[in-house]
Amino acid sequence: QKLKINLEEIEKGGFDHFMLKEIHEQPKAITDTYRGRLLRQEAIIKMAGIEDNMKKFLNADRIIIVACGTSWHAGLVAEYIFEDLARVPVEVEYASEFRYRNPIITEKDVLIAISQSGETADTLAAIKLAKSKGAFVFGVCNVVGSSIARETHAGAYTHAGPEIGVASTKAFTTQITVLTLIALRLARAKGTISSSDFRHHLLELEMIPKKVEESLKSDAHIQKIAEIYKDVSNFLYLGRGYNFPVALEGALKLKEISYIHAEGYPAAEMKHGPIALIDENMPIVVIATKKGHYEKVVSNIQEIKSRKGKIIGIVTEGDVQVKELADHVIEVPETLESLSPLLTTIPLQLLSYHIAVMLGKNVDQPRNLAKSVTVE
Ligand code: G6P
Repeated sequence: QKLKINLEEIEKGGFDHFMLKEIHEQPKAITDTYRGRLLRQEAIIKMAGIEDNMKKFLNADRIIIVACGTSWHAGLVAEYIFEDLARVPVEVEYASEFRYRNPIITEKDVLIAISQSGETADTLAAIKLAKSKGAFVFGVCNVVGSSIARETHAGAYTHAGPEIGVASTKAFTTQITVLTLIALRLARAKGTISSSDFRHHLLELEMIPKKVEESLKSDAHIQKIAEIYKDVSNFLYLGRGYNFPVALEGALKLKEISYIHAEGYPAAEMKHGPIALIDENMPIVVIATKKGHYEKVVSNIQEIKSRKGKIIGIVTEGDVQVKELADHVIEVPETLESLSPLLTTIPLQLLSYHIAVMLGKNVDQPRNLAKSVTVE
């Protein structure tokens, strides 16, 4: 027993929990994900699974993405990236809903299945269904040799390394990284991105690990915010565009490990419901980075403010406007809008982590949850 405890301490590498270790591993994990694939000097992206099947991707009428949980959120981010850069229609589906609703699948469809573990039963079943209808199935998995990796026609690993904490962190950001690489590669092949824009994306993507590191430096500041709000019973998360899925993921992280009820919403939808919940006891995390509909989000913040909601803004370094309105702001470095989820996610992971720790919850193994759900 003692030996086991000691081993676990060693594995945690000086961090109190696996989740915290994995949050901090993200700069390296993202680098590992694009290493050998993003070749900035040559201005190319090299991914065998894509090159070998380029025809399938280029002939696809649409891309269907299936996943569960956090991986589904990565799929939602990918929808924005694929449609924006590669101009291909994308549908993102919960694997469980997709497989049970008699979906229309043809041989011209490409299905991308996203799964950290590669063992999620519903995702695996969705893959089998799509294959039986003749679709080309591509996997984005973390665990090498997993069932989904074996069951798909081709794929790309995330190379995040083992993720032990039940609440997914580095798997999410590396999934987004792989999906961004794929979208960029397809955009280049389709000619939907200019060569200078493509180069610019490569350069910015290569700088993401450094910027994640920068974002991690807000840890002590985030701890203070966690201390203030740890005892509330509800949280709202708002974001728009690329950062709408990040709002969903931020809320999921908080639910999973702190058991505080949290909802993620597209910021503009706030007035169709959630606004009714806002009073002086409601903290609202608003992702309000520059670009990405900034002015619109600022006006959402004003609406919250006039209802006395407490605002925690995730903003771009040097922001002035939101800072004036919000109760707290957490800064992230500036980047392209399409890459911003890789940065805005970081403070949300830390916020839920610290709240859960302060509440004395079992962060790495939250009640009722499993790392991979291999039953239906
Ligand atoms: C479980 C885990 C989540 C994960 C989801 C999908 O619910 O607790 O962290 O996002 O399964 O898992 P997958 O391995 O398919 O990404």
